[in-house]
Amino acid sequence: MKFSSIIAPLALASSVTATAIRNRDWSDWQNCLSQTQAETIVNQYASILTHSDPTTANATAQALLDVNYTEISDSILSLEGQPLGTATFVGKDTYITGVLESPPVTGINTLEIDVANCNKILWYWKFTGIGSEEYEIKGFNLFTITPAGQINQTNLEFNSIAWALDTGYQVIFPTSTTVT
Ligand SMILES: *[C@@H]1O[C@H](CO)[C@@H](O)[C@H](O)[C@H]1NC(C)=O
Ligand SMILES: *[C@@H]1O[C@H](CO)[C@@H](O)[C@H](O)[C@H]1NC(C)=O
Ligand SMILES: *[C@@H]1O[C@H](CO)[C@@H](O)[C@H](O)[C@H]1NC(C)=O
Repeated sequence: MKFSSIIAPLALASSVTATAIRNRDWSDWQNCLSQTQAETIVNQYASILTHSDPTTANATAQALLDVNYTEISDSILSLEGQPLGTATFVGKDTYITGVLESPPVTGINTLEIDVANCNKILWYWKFTGIGSEEYEIKGFNLFTITPAGQINQTNLEFNSIAWALDTGYQVIFPTSTTVT
């Protein structure tokens, strides 16, 4: 018991180190994304959400997104009152129009960016500029990157109750104090 509780954290630590080295040293091997590439892609994606200059944001999005770009988010469908499990956007043009016509997302903070499985990027974020800005909103985006270096799929989930409260929804808590 004592032995296994000591060995487990050590094994975990060494596998984390090995992954970090592999991402750095093998960045050009088997077309694995490097940490720098992942950070560039996330920063470009975030600049589309902010779209301080719509023309620049459109050009960035045209270059960054695959023509069949798909966004999947039950968090967004929940806010929209739509059935869960379907895509929120299919197609690059639909998405770009949708984003550029939406209010700019400001207060974007990156908490963590990780490369996974060579062609995926995990972005852990905190938005502090939504609506009334009363509640911070934390979430994750999982991006799939094509061999051409474009995003073809984004799966994202976030604290949709915080987003709802910041944007004027009324949340009614259950009358029972016991959660079952
Ligand atoms: C996009 O989707 C269409 C229709 O499914 C398909 O014909 C086309 O090859 C796809 N393009 C890319 C770049 O994946
Ligand atoms: C973005 O640019 C493309 C062409 O580069 C254009 O067809 C499209 O209308 C633009 N979209 C928006 C929302 O400005
Ligand atoms: C996205 O691209 C990856 C890598 O090429 C591919 O494996 C995956 O099937 C694509 N997904 C979609 C939804 O097009």
